Amino acid sequence: MWANDRIYRHFKHAAQLGGLVLCCTLFTVSMRVKAEDVLTLGYKFYQENCATCHNGSVEEAPTKAALKKLSVDAIEAALTDGIMQSQAAHLSPSQRMEIAKFLGKVPLVALDDSYYCNNRLLKPAESVSNQNKLPVGNTSNWGFGLTNERMITNTTITKDNVSQLELDWIFAVPNVARARSQPAIYGDTIYMGGADASIKAIDAQHGCLNWQFPVEAEVRIAITADVDEYGNAARLYFGDLSGNIYGFDVRAQEILWSFKAVPHPASTITGSPILHEDTVYFPVSSLEIVLAANESYQCCTFRGAVVAVDKVTGRVKWTAYTTDKPALVGENKIGIPRYGPSGAPIWSSPTIDTKRGLLYVGTGENYSRPVTQTSDAIIALSLQTGAREWVQQVTLDDAWNASCGRASQANCPENPGPDFDFGAPPILTVDADGREIIVAGQKSGRVYAFDPDNAGQMLWQKQVGRGGIMGGVHWGMATDQKRLYVPISDTSVYQRDAHKPAKSGLHAVEINTGEAIWSTLTPDNCGDAKWRCSPGLSAAATVIPGVVFSGGLDGVMRAFDAETGRILWSFNSFIKFGDIHGVDAFGGSFDSDGPVILGDRLYITSGYDKWGLQPGNVLLSFKIKSPK
Ligand code: HEC
Repeated sequence: MWANDRIYRHFKHAAQLGGLVLCCTLFTVSMRVKAEDVLTLGYKFYQENCATCHNGSVEEAPTKAALKKLSVDAIEAALTDGIMQSQAAHLSPSQRMEIAKFLGKVPLVALDDSYYCNNRLLKPAESVSNQNKLPVGNTSNWGFGLTNERMITNTTITKDNVSQLELDWIFAVPNVARARSQPAIYGDTIYMGGADASIKAIDAQHGCLNWQFPVEAEVRIAITADVDEYGNAARLYFGDLSGNIYGFDVRAQEILWSFKAVPHPASTITGSPILHEDTVYFPVSSLEIVLAANESYQCCTFRGAVVAVDKVTGRVKWTAYTTDKPALVGENKIGIPRYGPSGAPIWSSPTIDTKRGLLYVGTGENYSRPVTQTSDAIIALSLQTGAREWVQQVTLDDAWNASCGRASQANCPENPGPDFDFGAPPILTVDADGREIIVAGQKSGRVYAFDPDNAGQMLWQKQVGRGGIMGGVHWGMATDQKRLYVPISDTSVYQRDAHKPAKSGLHAVEINTGEAIWSTLTPDNCGDAKWRCSPGLSAAATVIPGVVFSGGLDGVMRAFDAETGRILWSFNSFIKFGDIHGVDAFGGSFDSDGPVILGDRLYITSGYDKWGLQPGNVLLSFKIKSPK
């Protein structure tokens, strides 16, 4: 409770702070359906069964806002055998649960004492001897540095010993079905967000819990930290599914500042923040693309943004939107007002170019017409002011939203585009001649290179995968400055180009030309799986000297020889691990985040419960087997 109170106070404070600096309220127009409300089935059941009394018309009935302060359990109990049982008698238990989940706050599950490091009797072999100790170091940011190369050198894992990687410990999170917050290691601690709306500090050596702290919503990103002189995390920075961003003081264990990055109710943070000097840069994306599937939704008003925040005070230094303010542009097919331009969300972490004082982001498609020149583009912004320095758009006229997949297509833009987001961050690296170069991979399956010295002029482009709405490059490529490693996820679902051959697998290309060096298509591990098993590599890849790691939607983590593409090691995480300190632990598909490596260990989360993939709730730690 204490922690929650503190959060609440900080939110109130932050709301005022945010109000001062974030000027633009998009919602001066009254909306028939509000974005924040349409996200769940629970909302629908609530509207049909509860709203008549709880919308303020029946005075004795607590308002929706009041109900939203109760816990899920309390609401479920009121509906099942409490004060509201006659109101809910016609609903099934699962419908009641949907309503309770929609209205209620999910309390962070108190973990069994045995989870906590303090209470664990570490076995002698586990106690920290110097020999056993992790090297000092950290794996800052999503891309392990400012340039998003996803290259880690502080490791003793090599091509020769990688086959000796063995599962060492498992950390399971209760009551969740996905695990996609990339572990961030600072000192000897892993910081990780979760679907249980928390951040956790986990002992990197033993996998026990140091502490956990509740936040407002699911944290999907890689936490980034500001470190003290010993390399330990002093402040943490992260964002959540509801679009809130946070600065957190590790020692005091309290939120320093927090507010919604932009005012749009459907905004969300899926890309990891990045810290440079005194500023944290947050990329902003949205869930509006899904809301648009609802024909009475007023589509669309979200626009992608980067928000630059003072790392200590939380003061917003600048907000750079990817499109102009949306205006009323007509009506949809059932007469609901339509707005545009919109979209061009930023799904992934920005890349910092210290030499040129720039920040690069990749954008997604427009949600509605008119289209802009900033969708499906790489955009360079001034680190100082957020001013747009250049834009390189690779796919023109791409307006698309989830309505296009529905029968009515009420909100689908005319002549919908192919939905070719840049989901992975642009990488700033060097080519074989030592010249700096920006490379970026797109859902189209194409990879591009741009010249940072020439306003981002395109140097080359190559079709590496087949691409599609669920195809191509998703969350992250990697490079060791010798080759560029491109994970391709050409899943056949929602696939326009299904007739072309899928190229799911890992591909290495020349940085100077994009020419293929090797291609290893993922071996079929799906058999006759009843779920949407796929050989697609959607999660981000990670490279260490000589070895590339890439996890599959099929639940298999593989190590590839960086020179030849030969598979050196694999581990199928789609298994039930059983009871781990009182929590039922299970692995599933790898999606979104990629492996993090330090010393002789590899850490990866497993489980992703969307798109028909396999759920899971674990952080896995692998270690090179010590010689007997
Ligand atoms: C016919 C009007 C009506 C309908 C329909 C209705 N409620 Fe209520 N609800 C009330 C009233 C009136 C109260 C306050 C009862 C009291 O405390 O005297 C209440 C109380 C509650 C409480 C207890 C709040 C607390 O402070 O403990 C919950 C929870 C609740 N309602 C949820 C729901 C849900 C969920 C639905 C839809 C399935 C629903 N109600 C449908 C009228 C209604």
